[in-house]
Amino acid sequence: MATQYNRLAVLLHWLLAVMVLLLLFGGSQMLVILDNADPEKIGALQGHATLGVLVGILTLIRLINILLRDRPTNAYPTGTSMALVTSIGHKLLYLLVLAVVGSGIAMGIAVDLGAVVAGAASLPESFHHLGARAAHGILTKLLALTILGHILAALYHQFIKKDNLLRRMRWKRMD
Ligand code: HEM
Ligand code: HEM
Repeated sequence: MATQYNRLAVLLHWLLAVMVLLLLFGGSQMLVILDNADPEKIGALQGHATLGVLVGILTLIRLINILLRDRPTNAYPTGTSMALVTSIGHKLLYLLVLAVVGSGIAMGIAVDLGAVVAGAASLPESFHHLGARAAHGILTKLLALTILGHILAALYHQFIKKDNLLRRMRWKRMD
């Protein structure tokens, strides 16, 4: 049984952590503040959507890698409630990231973002008439909360429980 996540899983975990946090911050603090009529909006949307689609692709690769390769057992003994919480929490992280990307792509298709970027169409006044926009807004907030819980759990393990759980997500091999 593996004692650490494989190197591809480790690389993708930290790369995706940075990308997702950038998207959450950029989306809520910069992108939504720009009016759709602002000439800078299309470039900002293009960057946000490209990074977002890349997150979706890398998350799928990460999921396949995790499912196919040996990985460390749950940090808690099988059958305990904490083992269940951990397992659900990790599945939720994957699911929410993919749902956020999916609702983003749905918005892109609804407003024909490809044609907008190419200069062949213009943006609607706003995205707020779209169901996918409401879903994207709610899902990104749920994702941010789940990530916060995940980070607090990692800090709890590292500094209170002191079981050095973070070593499982380290590039450096321990054995
Ligand atoms: C955008 C942010 C993040 C996302 C989406 C994310 C997602 C995940 C997922 C899905 C797993 C489970 C891997 C699996 O077994 O399939 C995981 C494991 C882990 N993450 Fe994160 N993570 C993020 C940020 C962080 C940060 C900032 C830390 C540290 C402070 C961290 C520490 C860990 C650790 C230690 C594990 C291994 C847990 C174990 O071995 O049971 N993560 N992460
Ligand atoms: C993990 C991937 C993604 C994350 C974390 C993310 C995050 C966010 C956040 C936090 C917001 C602001 C929500 C709010 O304050 O209500 C937002 C808005 C938006 N995102 Fe994403 N997003 C992602 C992927 C995508 C993708 C793939 C697309 C398009 C292909 C996209 C298109 C949009 C659009 C059109 C808006 C609305 C902008 C506005 O209302 O002016 N997003 N995103």
